[in-house]
Amino acid sequence: MPERSDSSRGPADVAPALLAWYDRHHRELPWRVSPARQRRGERPDPYRVWLSEIMLQQTTVAAVKPYFQAFTGKWPTVGALAGAEADDVMKAWAGLGYYSRARNLKKCAETVASEHGGAFPRTAEGLRALPGVGPYTAAAIAAIAFDLPEAVVDGNVERVVARLFAIETPLPAAKAEIRLRTAEITPAERPGDFAQAMMDLGATICTPRRPNCMLCPVNDQCVALKQGDPELLPVKMAKAERPARRGAAFVAVRRDGAVLLRKRPPRGLLAGMAEVPTSNWSARTDGADDAAAAPFPAPWRRTGSIGHVFTHFSLELAIWRAEMGDADAPAGYWWSRPQTLMDEALPTVMKKAIEAAIPGATQKRRPERNGGNSEAA
Ligand code: ADE
Repeated sequence: MPERSDSSRGPADVAPALLAWYDRHHRELPWRVSPARQRRGERPDPYRVWLSEIMLQQTTVAAVKPYFQAFTGKWPTVGALAGAEADDVMKAWAGLGYYSRARNLKKCAETVASEHGGAFPRTAEGLRALPGVGPYTAAAIAAIAFDLPEAVVDGNVERVVARLFAIETPLPAAKAEIRLRTAEITPAERPGDFAQAMMDLGATICTPRRPNCMLCPVNDQCVALKQGDPELLPVKMAKAERPARRGAAFVAVRRDGAVLLRKRPPRGLLAGMAEVPTSNWSARTDGADDAAAAPFPAPWRRTGSIGHVFTHFSLELAIWRAEMGDADAPAGYWWSRPQTLMDEALPTVMKKAIEAAIPGATQKRRPERNGGNSEAA
């Protein structure tokens, strides 16, 4: 039998070349323990791995880094986070989006502290039982923190595997096949580094547009490249268009520049977060956008409008501003001074509303999501 040449190799054993590439080219990330440090006996801290995976859901690495540093600075252990005030956790999370993640984060820390003696379960199944930990996150923590051979499939890995095996079934129908293929190529040795190498490959080389196949460590094993155009994969089903909703936000300003805030209800969109009063828009219905919808009479003046994109709808808010002199805060509201405004649990849409009424008010200090402005409850 003739020996197989490199150009006839398939994707079944990408692990050796991918791990060798990861050893040299992995991204330095604050929750990550590099291969060199692992060789010296260091292991990733499950708390940091879990926290990073929750933060990274629906968000970019660049956006997460400052939040991760802030959280681990304030709460260096799962026990510390379990003991934190829920409001402080929401404030530290403000701007990262998908706020149910922050509520579950706190619940999960409490569960690990009270039911597991402060140690994360060491199996994917055990991890899956924790609040806010879905199948992807459980697999990622099991692989990265405990080096278990779990198939870890995030959006980046989905793309890499669809291309390696030239899977033409459209997403999401292709998910089961992609998972199976990922399980097949996950090695028994260093599965945690393998999972992270796949993520890094997808983030830096096997990108959605213009993948840099010349630099890819497994380009000789990629079926999509052999067939011609990896950029065409994965195929995705067209998404339903987002409905466009309208509403109004009311920025009441005290003489000293303080802004009137209230807390959103404990359930639903942006639950428990701080807001300037708004008309009652939702994902399903428009709210009024005129001054008559204000929660109390005041000399409201229209100052513009802002747009914000949530996962399931887009929102245009008419922005109204009123000068309130030295008025007391009505029941259920509080005044937030300019110096403390950015410490409030204000979601990005509310920061935009305040900024439109008081230019410069939200420019201070806080780390913000970079790039996209998509956000959900
Ligand atoms: N995206 C999701 N999890 C990640 C991780 N652990 N490293 C890099 N990118 C990621």
